[in-house]
Amino acid sequence: MADIPNIQWFPGHMAKTRRLIQDQVKLVDLVAEITDARIPQSSRNPELGKWIGDKRRLLILNKSDAADPNITARWIRYYEEAGIPAIAIDAKSGRGVQQFLPKVREILSDVIERRAQKGMVGRPLRLMIAGIPNVGKSSFINRLAGEKRAKVEDRPGVTVGKQWVAVAKDVDLLDTPGVLWPKFEDPAVGERLAFTGAVKDQIMDVELLSMRLLGWLREEYPQLLLDRYKLKEEETTGLEEYELLELVGRKRGMLISGGEIDTLRAATMLLDEYRGGKLGRLSLEVPPRKEAGV
Ligand code: G4P
Repeated sequence: MADIPNIQWFPGHMAKTRRLIQDQVKLVDLVAEITDARIPQSSRNPELGKWIGDKRRLLILNKSDAADPNITARWIRYYEEAGIPAIAIDAKSGRGVQQFLPKVREILSDVIERRAQKGMVGRPLRLMIAGIPNVGKSSFINRLAGEKRAKVEDRPGVTVGKQWVAVAKDVDLLDTPGVLWPKFEDPAVGERLAFTGAVKDQIMDVELLSMRLLGWLREEYPQLLLDRYKLKEEETTGLEEYELLELVGRKRGMLISGGEIDTLRAATMLLDEYRGGKLGRLSLEVPPRKEAGV
């Protein structure tokens, strides 16, 4: 998978994005980086750290409704221990979003204090959101900004045209997120991004992908796989991944003429069900050992 280019990103596009983000970073006090809680590491772009330098950062693990809550809690601990403040949210329902502003104020408490000492009391904190496509940046901004979005340029001193939204009395948010590209030189990373739908199916082999997902499910969440597709354990033992896909297709009655199994349809169904959360709250990544860096 490493050699499959992501068609959305080409070198010129990447350079432009990098410059844009580097420019925007200069305007803000903090960058909130959004990731997918099911794959917190694979859905980050490691370049971001380089571009933002020593700018304060908050990691937001979104879609936590779809991830295993115990593993998400471990990730939060892992990042916090590594010096990266992190919270878990679900931008779709809004769960956890209320932690965001207090956390931002906590991270920037010394900035707030310094400004107060300098008599700059009214100056709001400025933030930007960044993340790879499909992690929920727009959903989060909409949650946070809501109807306030209409009032963008009300605040005195804010230049018209700069897209700031006042999300609290003391906090302005850059209305357009920084869109990073996914980085999938490591085939395992590309695979996880594809499982969640962050990388488009047109450039992936759907059957192969679903076979890998089945193999992973059999390994990590066997009971869940058996229950969902009404399989008996003895039916699955010793099966190759492709045979497992056929079995799932057969159980779902996905046949084509001649009694053959429509494995493409079964594969599409399986991926849709995973992405739609029908298989349960499944995390595809666990925190690495402490000594490995973030
Ligand atoms: P982006 O700006 O980072 O590209 O992401 P966006 O907000 O557009 O969200 C991408 C998809 O992820 C959307 O689904 C959105 O509803 C979903 N999403 C966002 N936050 C969450 C979350 O916390 N939990 C879950 N389960 N899903 C979330 P979509 O299918 O593209 O659109 P729609 O069917 O929801 O309209």
